[in-house]
Amino acid sequence: MSVIENERQRRRTFAIISHPDAGKTTMTEKLLLFGGAIQLAGTVRSRKADRHATSDWMKMEQERGISVTTSVMQFPFGEHIINLLDTPGHQDFSEDTYRTLTAVDSALMMIDAARGVQPQTIKLLEVCRMHRSPIMTFINKMDREGRDPLELMEEIENIMGLRCVPFTWPIGSGREFQGVYNLHRKRLELYRSSEGGGGARPEEMIEVDLDDARLDELIGEYAAEELREAVELVVEAGDAFDLESYLKGYQTPVFFGSALNNFGVREFLDTLVELAPTPGVTETSERLVEPNEDKVMGFVFKIQANMNAMHRDRIAFFRVCAGEFTRGMKLRQVRTGKEIRMHNPITFMAKDRSLVETAYPGDIVGLHDKGSIQVGDTFTEGEMLKVTGIPHFAPELFRKVRLENPLATKALHKGLTHLGEEGAAQVFRLNLGGDLIVGAVGTLQFEVVAHRLRDEYRVEATWETVDFTCARWLSGEDETLSKLAKLYPRNMAKDARGHLVFLARGEFQIRSINERYEGLRFDATMEMV
Ligand code: G4P
Repeated sequence: MSVIENERQRRRTFAIISHPDAGKTTMTEKLLLFGGAIQLAGTVRSRKADRHATSDWMKMEQERGISVTTSVMQFPFGEHIINLLDTPGHQDFSEDTYRTLTAVDSALMMIDAARGVQPQTIKLLEVCRMHRSPIMTFINKMDREGRDPLELMEEIENIMGLRCVPFTWPIGSGREFQGVYNLHRKRLELYRSSEGGGGARPEEMIEVDLDDARLDELIGEYAAEELREAVELVVEAGDAFDLESYLKGYQTPVFFGSALNNFGVREFLDTLVELAPTPGVTETSERLVEPNEDKVMGFVFKIQANMNAMHRDRIAFFRVCAGEFTRGMKLRQVRTGKEIRMHNPITFMAKDRSLVETAYPGDIVGLHDKGSIQVGDTFTEGEMLKVTGIPHFAPELFRKVRLENPLATKALHKGLTHLGEEGAAQVFRLNLGGDLIVGAVGTLQFEVVAHRLRDEYRVEATWETVDFTCARWLSGEDETLSKLAKLYPRNMAKDARGHLVFLARGEFQIRSINERYEGLRFDATMEMV
């Protein structure tokens, strides 16, 4: 087996998707503990606390330096190398959050047992769907009173359209939580509270069949009977696990646990390395690229700017899709045709940024950039390939830019173009009147853009609210488009690359237009070109 193939098979690259507060940070921390990447619980948490202490810009800027290390975390787990990509939530929620999901091979969906499926998870899952990423599910906070597990699974099936296959089944919840029965491995895993933290501590595991009388002794007659009944119901009514169905994103293995108490985390990690896909083929404009090809190919899915205010440096996050990436090698930036030497690429070993010598398919490398790299850029060893499926996502929040000084229009355009390329926000120009509308998916993006316009482009801009809540890329026959432009002059705009966009007051408006005019296409994503 080639070195590349061997390394590829060791890799699992995934992200956690969840609604804020479901326990993503806690889970990340426990995973890193298992990987030996951090010694003590609390490292990720304290960073998170800093992040939310204030939205003051200085703080944010400092945090950017910190959060880059939490953007990608690589750690070993047994024979495997795990790459965990952060999908920022809370105020940091942005298009990057979506695009990160284009750079992973699978995802873990975390759900708060008391809250069930929540809006942000739904959105993120939709993006996973677009990429046909397989999903595992962790129902968290079982140490608290939660909702009925069957009801939660039903909700996941109904709202997310995923068929749930429980790998573990909980025994009680809240104060009565005794642990889980592992249906996959046919054993009882007993829960002991670790009082709010704890390290990587093995659960007490007892191999026992469900109909074994020992089960009654271990967890009590009542709980044992309840467990048998529930499992019977689940097994009868549900699907058996089918690897192919999971890999295609139809079925999701479900785990119950408590990240805070480090319960069920190990089981998830074991299953991840056992079942989750290794880095696979990549679709490009020209052909499918196999990960074990000799030549390097990869793409940039995120750019993080202002990591060091003194140097204006930016880090481009590059996912290696094929070949063996080595420090100092020359790669071609396909969009411009330029050859760029990979001088000081960095890797992300949990806490520290260190220089990377080699990287393999599935790995993420940080490339230093002075402004010439764009999100969506493909790099190869010469072949003219363009990775597809790293789209712009339609923003959901909109503001009109108002300039304090009208003479700064040119600088404003330049600034917004750069920030748009970087993926900080999207910019649209209204056909009528030429006003600039900035679109985002998280409110903090507006703060970031205004600050950076002031700081880097000397432009004082303020925001005005507008009544758009929805954007769709528009295409269709010329005649219908011009009819639409006459009827809705206020809604027609162009994006930074000149594509036609319809800014709507809500999805209902799009639906109603769609019903009345044939041959129009409203797209919620637009391929980057
Ligand atoms: P997030 O990154 O998804 O936003 O969630 P995070 O891990 O920060 O967890 C949100 C809150 O839920 C935290 O409490 C965390 O301690 C708690 N939590 C996470 N997992 C579990 C669990 O398994 N059981 C219980 N009972 N709680 C859990 P907090 O009070 O907001 O923060 P902190 O004071 O604990 O830091």
